[in-house]
Amino acid sequence: MRTISRFQGAILLALACASAVSAQSAPQQNPNWWKNAVIYEIYPRSFQDSNGDGIGDLNGITSHLDYLQTLGVNAVWLTPNYPSPQIDFGYDISDYDNIDPQYGTLADFDRLVAGARQRHIGIIMDLVLNHTSDQHPWFKESASSRTNPKADWYTWHDPKIVNGHRLPPNNWESVFGGSAWQWDPARRQYYYHRFYIQQPDLNWNNPQVRKAMYDVERFWIRHGVAGFRLDAITSLFEDPQDRDEPYVLGPDGKPLTNAYGDKVVQTIYTDDLPEVHTVIRQLRQVADQTHGRKVILIGETYLPSVTDLRRWFGAKNDELDLPMDMQVGFINKFDVSLFRQRINDAETKIDGNMPLFVFDNHDNPRWDRYVTADHKDDVGRVLSTILFASRDTALMYYGDEIGMVTTPPARKEDIRDPIGIRGWPKEKGRDGERTPMQWNSSPIAGFSPAGVKTWLPIPPSYARVNVAAEEGNPDSMLSWYQQLIALKKNDAAVHAGREVMLNPTDDRVLSWLRIAPDGEAVVVACNFTAQPQTIGFPLARYGMRGRVVRTLLKTPGAPNVSRAGQVQLGPYGVYIGRVE
Ligand code: NOJ
Repeated sequence: MRTISRFQGAILLALACASAVSAQSAPQQNPNWWKNAVIYEIYPRSFQDSNGDGIGDLNGITSHLDYLQTLGVNAVWLTPNYPSPQIDFGYDISDYDNIDPQYGTLADFDRLVAGARQRHIGIIMDLVLNHTSDQHPWFKESASSRTNPKADWYTWHDPKIVNGHRLPPNNWESVFGGSAWQWDPARRQYYYHRFYIQQPDLNWNNPQVRKAMYDVERFWIRHGVAGFRLDAITSLFEDPQDRDEPYVLGPDGKPLTNAYGDKVVQTIYTDDLPEVHTVIRQLRQVADQTHGRKVILIGETYLPSVTDLRRWFGAKNDELDLPMDMQVGFINKFDVSLFRQRINDAETKIDGNMPLFVFDNHDNPRWDRYVTADHKDDVGRVLSTILFASRDTALMYYGDEIGMVTTPPARKEDIRDPIGIRGWPKEKGRDGERTPMQWNSSPIAGFSPAGVKTWLPIPPSYARVNVAAEEGNPDSMLSWYQQLIALKKNDAAVHAGREVMLNPTDDRVLSWLRIAPDGEAVVVACNFTAQPQTIGFPLARYGMRGRVVRTLLKTPGAPNVSRAGQVQLGPYGVYIGRVE
């Protein structure tokens, strides 16, 4: 298990009265639809292949809208599906106003948006602002000379000459390994790339770059998107003085090294610089003014603390609607007190804004990284309960709902993600969390038509872990997710009630209270141990008149019986009950 996320590693370092109905209404009708909502991330390459090329596509997603509606999601975030050389599987964009033919056409996209809208589901586009592909016409032009009209659209820099040798301007590193500077022989300058060499960073100090990107934002709003997930948004700006980053030192006083063999730097000059907030406010204005409906801004915000997270909502709450709260989901340690503290921080330290909890995504191992004992599904129920029964908007990743597991490649020659090739064997890349969705138990798991070679192999778990097998089974992970999400949407306390941590010194059971504006309350308890536990809820202390709890949802098969205010939890058991 990685202890911090790949991207955190680079940093080192209420709608209180919304009615339950709000999260059910269409994004087009209710400006608050995204509060206490459920957002489902789809990696389009891996969701459903509709044309038999082994790669998922937009029509494949459209064919599963009923599934998504039954699951109960309010919005779907699609990772990039723009035209791209696919070096970083779409995060290297060569045309911002179109769809990559691998995934379909703009007309397919419009059909997806329309079909989703009919089912009250919004489509969220991934907006990659920090960099483009090196195949984007902007970059080609920029690289063609030092005097062309786009010469200043990217981050170009003269070399440092030491003893007659040409060196990069400073020690800035790519998140994906090696120097972040690439020499361009035509311009005889370096360009900066925070990610792959093929992903040159745009120069956000240039007003023309800003205008071009705000036009992209408008383009997709006009195509009906419900919002944007802003990729790598903390890294738009770099230190104008180009100062070297400090190294992170180990106990022996020497710099630590990462999986690529690079010295680890503290990215104080390339990440979270203050200028980015002006851009976010401008993006916010474009989002608010383009179409007369609420368009949300989600940020990919790996930040070191809740105090940093607070800043991303904006001093006047005029920046991101939902900066991702990585504090909770990426604790990466099954520790009651840490979860209690971080969840409580989200309740008390972000001025009532809406936290966006997330446990996994296409860049990090799935939630099964938390599982160490042979209680995988029960641990999954604990984590999903934290995700859906907290006061938050919940961001989930495709396949989590059936318990798909991280399946990294066993051999270097099978890797598709370039960072896995570069970092092998310490860094196996991100293929393991991007495997095709497991729809049924046929040989290709229903992802592609029979006989097709899929872009990544189908994990062996598909025979048991798949939608068809789980759909009719009330004890399956899929049923658990459906029930939890239904509670989040329909129960006023679970939907938007304020959250109070209970039993604050208990280091075995995490328990909390959700209190709706009308006083109706729900208790939630999660056993973090492999031993049975009995727990009481000191409700009177929190002004509750009710003493007993009535079961709303509990881990299947476990005793979990509520008796005179006490609840018995099986190993990693979950209990959710109404106070009566
Ligand atoms: C973050 C994305 O989630 C990741 O997949 C991508 O490689 C980098 N940003 C670069 O765009």
